[in-house]
Amino acid sequence: MAFDIEMIKAVYGRYESRIAAARKVVGKPLTLTEKILYAHLWDGEANEAYGRGKSYVDFAPDRVAMQDATAQMALLQFMQAGRPQVAVPSTVHCDHLIQAKVGAETDLAVATDQNKEVYDFLASVSNKYGIGFWKPGAGIIHQVVLENYAFPGGMMIGTDSHTPNAGGLGMIAIGVGGADACDVMAGLPWELKFPKLIGVKLTGKLSGWTAAKDVILKVAGILTVKGGTGAIVEYFGEGARSLSATGKGTICNMGAEIGATTSIFGYDEKSEAYLRGTDRADIADLANGIKEHLTGDAEVYANPEQYFDQVIEINLSELEPHINGPFTPDLAWPISKFATAVKENGWPEKLEVGLIGSCTNSSYEDISRAASLAQQAVEKNLVAKSEYTVTPGSEQVRYTVERDGFLETFDKIGGVVLANACGPCIGQWSRHGAEKKERNSIITSFNRNFAKRADGNPNTHSFVASPEIVTALAISGSLLFNPLTDTLTNEKGEQVKLDEPQGLELPVKGFAVEDAGYQAPAEDGSQVQVIVSPTSDRLQLLEPFKAWEGTDLTGLKLLIKAKGKCTTDHISMAGPWLKYRGHLDNISNNMLIGAINYFNDSADNVKNQLTGSYGPVPATQRAYKAAGINTIVVGDENYGEGSSREHAAMEPRHLGVRVILVKSFARIHETNLKKQGMLALTFNNPADYDLIKEDDTIDIIGLTDFTPDKQLTVVLHHTDGSEDRIQVNHTYNAQQIEWFKAGGALNIIRKNQAQ
Ligand code: F3S
Repeated sequence: MAFDIEMIKAVYGRYESRIAAARKVVGKPLTLTEKILYAHLWDGEANEAYGRGKSYVDFAPDRVAMQDATAQMALLQFMQAGRPQVAVPSTVHCDHLIQAKVGAETDLAVATDQNKEVYDFLASVSNKYGIGFWKPGAGIIHQVVLENYAFPGGMMIGTDSHTPNAGGLGMIAIGVGGADACDVMAGLPWELKFPKLIGVKLTGKLSGWTAAKDVILKVAGILTVKGGTGAIVEYFGEGARSLSATGKGTICNMGAEIGATTSIFGYDEKSEAYLRGTDRADIADLANGIKEHLTGDAEVYANPEQYFDQVIEINLSELEPHINGPFTPDLAWPISKFATAVKENGWPEKLEVGLIGSCTNSSYEDISRAASLAQQAVEKNLVAKSEYTVTPGSEQVRYTVERDGFLETFDKIGGVVLANACGPCIGQWSRHGAEKKERNSIITSFNRNFAKRADGNPNTHSFVASPEIVTALAISGSLLFNPLTDTLTNEKGEQVKLDEPQGLELPVKGFAVEDAGYQAPAEDGSQVQVIVSPTSDRLQLLEPFKAWEGTDLTGLKLLIKAKGKCTTDHISMAGPWLKYRGHLDNISNNMLIGAINYFNDSADNVKNQLTGSYGPVPATQRAYKAAGINTIVVGDENYGEGSSREHAAMEPRHLGVRVILVKSFARIHETNLKKQGMLALTFNNPADYDLIKEDDTIDIIGLTDFTPDKQLTVVLHHTDGSEDRIQVNHTYNAQQIEWFKAGGALNIIRKNQAQ
């Protein structure tokens, strides 16, 4: 329906010559990742080989996708850029703002009412600027993109960290902040540090209880949440070719949890079947025409160690189902070891809720396999002991699985079907009793399980597994249950065992949908009005940030020294704050409220150096701002991991923080900080983190000579009169230094448009 076949023809038309040019400069066989990247260079055919993990390269993505929470700020920024239409095909997806409480129908009606102002804004901006608009209830961005827009060999960016989901269909799809989306929609190149390459060779074949999800749960255990940073993960081998396209999507989706730039699979028969199954036979035909370019060279896969920076091999035939967690997605447990881990760690054994679906795991295959277990429960007189929810990824999937009877099966075990939206996955879960903050366990087929993410309760132990394992455990009601080996007692007192799940990759009768929820934009949107009320507390037009003052930054007060994990959820919490995504001043009241203060081990409680008293981080920062004092935030490793939300960068900028100094950054967050004109610095010696004291006043020296690859100096003035001078690093290139000087990238875009 809503794809752009002419655009795909143009992309494929360039492949032959661009790959020939890439072969010449690289001088050796090419991985699939290199082929796609070199085919999407902003400057056309390659004339140099780029250094992996070193060169900053300009790309020309084919598409942009935005979800409703991040789209607000992206589009508010785009409106400032002064263009009549978006430069590349773009879409908006209303999925994040729908709260899960009762069930799909009621929750959707409530959300449509509560978020009317925001949906109207997004619909009208989309209509005006030529952007496809997917209404609330149409589905979750990544599933809708996979079904409608992803294509083998394409390149897209999306304002959500699970954009890599489209890698399941052979697309380089990268999660970015709204500022990057704004650049590309404004017709500017998109810059990325040329990634390192991790090859994952899959041998064997999945069987029984093991699912595609277990591949990424295993990989997350191997690589950890940082292991993929700055890298694209390319999967290959006979095992890869045996996985369904949607199973590959699951693996790529959750690649975000290892910090990977993105993940990708090559084009194969499964991709072709999925394209044809989702009404895109014309794309499959085109892809078949350039097949050899839509996978890595045979020589690369025969000797992967020579061509990838790191290689992992997994035998699918031997892979056990995994359960990862709690509180981090890289704590990987094969199911045979999980019950012992639960006991040894004292995690709550009773399973309260099992949740399947989300953008990660809501394919027809996932739902049909989970339903096969629910059906067995009914037939074997088992009553599900835990609550159980199902979140379909799109209206097309929902309609189809309802038609095929699966939703009715879930109903028989007490399953509740939630709206086709993010819901509990993003903290949009009005879970009864969560406010009591009791210790409890849940298990989901989602991708992320940081503390508080699902229901806001820090004591909810959230585990991640395949939909099959989630369903089996929900039936048993216990984290100690291993469906591969254990039996359950049914209503008649008999011991019964669940058989292996069964399912279908694609519906036999094809997909169907009555109203997919898509609204095409006006041909000419010049007369369309976009309305933002000046009194709105949800939307606020942006004011440009101030340019750099041209001097070193001196006399900065330490706002907070964050200890340990500091994700974008800690910096700009989701959940109830989502509703302020389009209002920078209001959402700034959540700035860093989840970060742990190094000096007192508590959240949202920092010292105000002006008064000596302790208080919430945002209020303390507003006090410094009112006094005209700049501040600095200090952080630990992988600061800003998690989502792509640029609010985590805009809020500190808006409230007057000037510098974020950390041991290391998560990639997207570091770029977002640069876009907003913030100084993002890392300790040259990570141990210098220990030198920062609570009452320090801090200077940043060397900014008048701010140059790529040149360190800056930080002077720490301690209250006892002593001082420490430390060297800090940065990764700003020449253009990014201009962003800093102009006070943000948008200030430069607007100036250029006006010329
Ligand atoms: Fe939504 Fe969760 Fe995916 S928040 S986009 S369903 S990761």
